[in-house]
Order: sequence, then C-alpha cells, then structure tokens
Amino acid sequence: MKIQPRFLAAAAAAALLLGLGSVTAQAQPTENAKELYEDNCLSCHGSEIFTREGRMVTSLDGLERQVQRCETALGLRWFDEDIKDVATYLNQNYYNFER
Ligand code: HEC
Repeated sequence: MKIQPRFLAAAAAAALLLGLGSVTAQAQPTENAKELYEDNCLSCHGSEIFTREGRMVTSLDGLERQVQRCETALGLRWFDEDIKDVATYLNQNYYNFER
C-alpha cells in the first residue's frame, strides 16, 4: 500500500494537537477566565481587594470558594470549570498560592 502524503500531513497535525493538549492541561487560566472576570467582577470591587492587608482568602481552595460565593450572589450560573478557571486566573495574577 502506498502511503498518501496527505495522510502523513494529517497524522503530523494530529500529533501536534495532542502535544498542545498536554500543555494546556496544566493549570493555566484561559482567555475565557480573564473575560469572565473583567465582564462580571469589577462592579463591586477592583483587584485591590485581592492584595489588601488582611485579605479574607488564604488558600487556593478558599479562593475557589470565594469566587463561587460572589458568582452565586450575582446569579451568574457559571460552570464549575469557569469558577476554577477564574480562581486560577486570580491566583496567578494576585494571590500566588502554591497548590
Ligand atoms: C455584588 C457585589 C460583588 C460583585 C459583583 C463581586 N463581588 Fe467579590 N466580593 C464582594 C464582597 C462584598 C466581598 C467581601 C468584601 C469584604 O469582606 O471586605 C467580596 C470579596 C471577594 C473576594 C475575596 C477578597 C479577599 O479579601 O481575599 C474574592 C476573591 C472575590 N470577591 C471574587 C469575586 C469574583 C471572582 C467576582 C466575579 C464573579 C466578584 N467577586 C464579584 C462583592 C462582590
């Protein structure tokens, strides 16, 4: 059987996609998180609340819970992944907790 060049190109593209998939599997916030945060979370408090002296949140788990609390209070009905994603985004930009 002769292998088609087009088949090889498709296989190479698939391998590339799989490779990229494993990179994005790490805890990196997505563009989606930034957008969700900027669109919904800046009306009551700005980012100064995350870095203030005596801030409430003291762990990554606590951060996820607080994101969910504010999200629920707003009636946004985000998916669990969105909550995690925004918590990761806030952690990377402001809180810097180690998992
Ligand atoms: C309706 C007003 C309101 C909106 C909108 C809001 N929050 Fe909050 N948020 C609060 C209040 C009130 C607190 C507690 C402030 C305090 O104790 O001084 C708070 C606190 C927090 C904290 C904890 C800060 C700390 O001290 O460590 C986080 C994190 C947070 N909000 C995330 C979010 C996220 C994410 C969103 C968007 C989904 C959001 N908030 C939108 C009212 C709001």
